[in-house]
Amino acid sequence: MATKYEVVVVIVPFPAQGHLNQLLHFSSLISSYKNIQVHYVSTKIHTKQAKIRAHGLLSPSGSTSSNNIIHFHEFSTPLFPSPPPNPNSNIKFPSHLQPSFESSYHLRGPVASLLRSLSSIARRVVVVHDSLMAYVVQDFTSLPNVESYNFHSVSAFTIFLFLWESMGKPFPIEAEILDNLPSLEGCFTSEFMNFMASQRKYSKSDSGNIYNTSRVIEGKFMNLLEKEPIKRNKTQWAIGPFNPMKIISHTSINNNYLSIDHHHHHRHHHHKCLLWLDKQSPKSTIFISFGTTTSLKDEQIEEICIGLEKSGIKFIWALRDADKGDIFSGEMRKIELPKGYEERIKNKGIIVRDWAPQLEILGHLSIGAFISHCGWNSCVESLSMGVPIIAWPMHSDQPRNSILITKFLKVGINIFNNWERSRNEVVRSNIIEHVIMTIMLNNTEGNEIRRRAAELGVAIRRSVAEGGVTRKELDSFIAHITR
Ligand SMILES: *[C@@H]1O[C@H](CO)[C@@H](O)[C@H](O)[C@H]1NC(C)=O
Ligand SMILES: *[C@@H]1O[C@H](CO)[C@@H](O)[C@H](O)[C@H]1NC(C)=O
Ligand SMILES: *[C@@H]1O[C@H](CO)[C@@H](O)[C@H](O)[C@H]1NC(C)=O
Repeated sequence: MATKYEVVVVIVPFPAQGHLNQLLHFSSLISSYKNIQVHYVSTKIHTKQAKIRAHGLLSPSGSTSSNNIIHFHEFSTPLFPSPPPNPNSNIKFPSHLQPSFESSYHLRGPVASLLRSLSSIARRVVVVHDSLMAYVVQDFTSLPNVESYNFHSVSAFTIFLFLWESMGKPFPIEAEILDNLPSLEGCFTSEFMNFMASQRKYSKSDSGNIYNTSRVIEGKFMNLLEKEPIKRNKTQWAIGPFNPMKIISHTSINNNYLSIDHHHHHRHHHHKCLLWLDKQSPKSTIFISFGTTTSLKDEQIEEICIGLEKSGIKFIWALRDADKGDIFSGEMRKIELPKGYEERIKNKGIIVRDWAPQLEILGHLSIGAFISHCGWNSCVESLSMGVPIIAWPMHSDQPRNSILITKFLKVGINIFNNWERSRNEVVRSNIIEHVIMTIMLNNTEGNEIRRRAAELGVAIRRSVAEGGVTRKELDSFIAHITR
């Protein structure tokens, strides 16, 4: 058979929204380079989920808006239990997703045969797998023209610390990094810790690491990742954020907003919250979202309602329960607000219960701050748009991300003085009101935080423009895989 493609890239995401989404954007970026064919591989349910939630990125046929094709694979796996999240659990990690995480083990066989058949028609096959999918791609080592790269979708700060701690602190680091650093206690379930640990041995055969972060945000921690023995002799690229940044308000155009060309995202013209935002004044409104893996107790929701109302600040609240492992099965909990609340606040805020266009909201000039669980996607999206963060971490890498945001980058305020100590307590409305006022109103602390967030946003947007540092790293990765 004649070699049809020079280089074929096979992308293997981890089946949870934040990860599916990042590697879908990565697929779209890669597919815009000439002569590279891109395959996106997951279970049937999760490939479907990624496509459905991709907003303007894809046309129904799977082509990106710049008309490059991504080949989607939907492999069948045995049915897995998909229970609802438990808002009252004393650990906030979404343990109800564990069966869906484990269902990914079944992808090993189908991925191995896909790689075998692609390796016979391409000069080189390049696997890019989520760091949690190393087990699934392990059979690439038996094929001569296949190489693999480990994609990290969390911050360099958290990965570095995780590796450094698990390797027994192989070299000294500045004491400041470790000051008040939350331990991993309460961040994960033990089942998930085992799942992560079981992936690590398979990533030994990878040729390099790709980080979805920017040296503009995390240069210091990228440098630490470059040190042996952490680096393990592998090449590294920091290719983030590359989210579509061509997002500007309907009503006013801010020339500071650099844009990147290969993403022509279409605004969700009709989403009611964007139309509502168009009517608010610049930086007047707070956006609240806890992502796709948080399930809040009713009592906590009530405290948020009161805190928001007392602050008097306008708001958009994306109010959803955590995803289930299979988002297509069954009903989702409809979160109840106190009686009469929505009516009472209707001139102050809106509640969005469907899928909120987060990036477009954060890119809107009326947004002044983001109350966020500090998942890495949310952090990066907010930072790219120059929006300061009220950090309210829940689990996983989030507590440490909140330290990166508030202590190192100084572009946000932490709702917790000490996450480890207070993580199981309901955060009271007076604290919520206080941090909102601090970050939104005229006061020394808030003014400094807003100024730094705006500056960082400009720097990040420059870095992904033509000639910027992030753009150069992506080009360098492409040059490397097409060598
Ligand atoms: C890295 O590579 C060099 C030379 O290629 C080799 O001498 C060294 O042992 C390697 N180090 C590790 C940690 O694998
Ligand atoms: C990196 O993360 C950002 C922020 O979540 C996301 O929007 C973007 O698509 C990711 N980029 C890549 C190349 O995966
Ligand atoms: C902010 O507060 C300071 C001190 O109270 C005041 O001098 C300044 O005019 C205020 N700035 C704005 C934009 O309101």
